[in-house]
Amino acid sequence: MAPPRAVARRALFLAATPAVAARRAPRQLPRISSQRASSTTSTTTTTTTGPSLGSGVRTAAFVTGLTLSGVAVYIYTTDTRAFFHRYVVPPLLRFMYPDAEEAHNAAVSSMKNLYSLNLHPRERASVLAANGDPDISVSVFGTHLANPIAISAGLDKHAEIPDALFALGASIVEVGGCTPRPQEGNPKPRMFRVPGIDGLINRYGLNSRGADNMAMRLRERVRRFAKTIGVDELSVLNGEAGVPPGSLLPGRMLLVQIAKNKETDESNVDAVTKDYVYCVQQLGRYADVLVVNVSSPNTPGLRDLQAVEPLTKLLSAVVDEARKTDRKTKPRVMVKVSPDEDEESQMEGIVQAVWASGVDGVIVGNTTKRRTGIIPPGVGITPKEQMTLTETGGYSGPMMLGRTVNLVKRYRKMLDGQSWREHVQEKKAVDEAVDASIAGIDDTITGIPKEGLAAKPEASNNIPSTGNTAEQKVIFATGGITNGRDALQVLNAGASIAMVYTGLVYGGAGTITRMKDEIKKEVNTSEA
Ligand SMILES: Cc1cc2nc3c(=O)[nH]c(=O)nc-3n(C[C@H](O)[C@H](O)[C@H](O)COP(=O)(O)O)c2cc1C
Repeated sequence: MAPPRAVARRALFLAATPAVAARRAPRQLPRISSQRASSTTSTTTTTTTGPSLGSGVRTAAFVTGLTLSGVAVYIYTTDTRAFFHRYVVPPLLRFMYPDAEEAHNAAVSSMKNLYSLNLHPRERASVLAANGDPDISVSVFGTHLANPIAISAGLDKHAEIPDALFALGASIVEVGGCTPRPQEGNPKPRMFRVPGIDGLINRYGLNSRGADNMAMRLRERVRRFAKTIGVDELSVLNGEAGVPPGSLLPGRMLLVQIAKNKETDESNVDAVTKDYVYCVQQLGRYADVLVVNVSSPNTPGLRDLQAVEPLTKLLSAVVDEARKTDRKTKPRVMVKVSPDEDEESQMEGIVQAVWASGVDGVIVGNTTKRRTGIIPPGVGITPKEQMTLTETGGYSGPMMLGRTVNLVKRYRKMLDGQSWREHVQEKKAVDEAVDASIAGIDDTITGIPKEGLAAKPEASNNIPSTGNTAEQKVIFATGGITNGRDALQVLNAGASIAMVYTGLVYGGAGTITRMKDEIKKEVNTSEA
């Protein structure tokens, strides 16, 4: 924190050297001594040096006090636990920006500016490191994450503030959704609040600046990071900087979400696949995990891609392209599925496509088109809010939690189904046998040593590349998670990570810190 530290250092310096401080003291202070000097000669010496020294010390003390107060205010206001992050900022944003999208844009640009000035809210490491705290770390794709909380897609649509979001304490940040070509999204207004039930409705329609633009921004971020630590861009991307190439932070992961353009005909699977593949080519290098979005309710036909055949084709193409990423360790691939496709046959189709394509995991949940069961019993909402609930778009809010927990349980069971694993293991055995015979032929012809072709051992700070297709599929949960207890519910249902969006909008910048504290308290209580 350059400015306050500079001020603090100067203040300490002034306090330690009163003579210098006295020289710099404001002019009116010596005037008191000159008045006294005119009364007697004998007092001249004492009055000119005495009060001047004393006032110098007082000034130094005053400046020091002021500075220390400034530092204290800085430390407090930039701490995610400051009360106003929860009780002042969110209502103030709602008051100042009646349009929810304007509030969203203002929040993103404030975070961006505050981050560049090092004045952004952050979770201070010491906060959560109390002795005897239960361990809430999780391991995902071989990466050890300090906590199971993530920020889900749509908050940072254009990858403008991933670092500011990581600073809030999340171990995973998902940026996007990003489409191959820039698109405006739906006409405004397209985001609405239902504060009586802490809910939101949005029909953004995947407004995106396009994959080239996002890639440029993410590349610039990698370059800046490489420069700070004195290595080149490629070394960072190859994991030689000791951090995952996406998040650029130890023990964190950056997810980049990709989608198709609205104008791409959803019934033309080849064209759709081309859209996603282009995004992989542009963005794969900067992601720890690529997320295939086939579940946003605001792009016509997008959710039809969840049918087994187009989904298998699409996901297989994305996985293949991700494996070609020009980087030592390849990005993992996940698919984000809708909470509304919840019939057994629909879910089974998705699971089949996941296993057949080699995708590494599923993000279960998104906003819902349904409007049933979203008002808690006994809670009244205003006529205006009732009108808002009739807006077209995807609803998100705490009442989605029950559905999310239920879906996670069902997906966990289906994904772990023995039949899928056996099928993949059989296929893997056949593939390996074929590979081995081809390698044998290659060896005879070219003489390439076998170890030269073997997969390199993974660095501990890297996300290991997709390889073992029979390993358990990972689930991240999203939808209605707003506190630590909710997070524990989805984790106990079979998810590895609990993702938040709407909870942050209403709960403010301290939401994630609070959730982690709540998880720890819950764990402690249940262990007691
Ligand atoms: C304004 C807004 C924009 C969103 N944009 C996206 C998006 O671009 N891609 C996506 O997959 N999900 C998007 N979502 C869905 C969220 O990522 C999340 O899955 C959903 O809101 C449920 O979680 P929550 O209850 O914590 O909000 C958006 C949600 C909101 C409220």
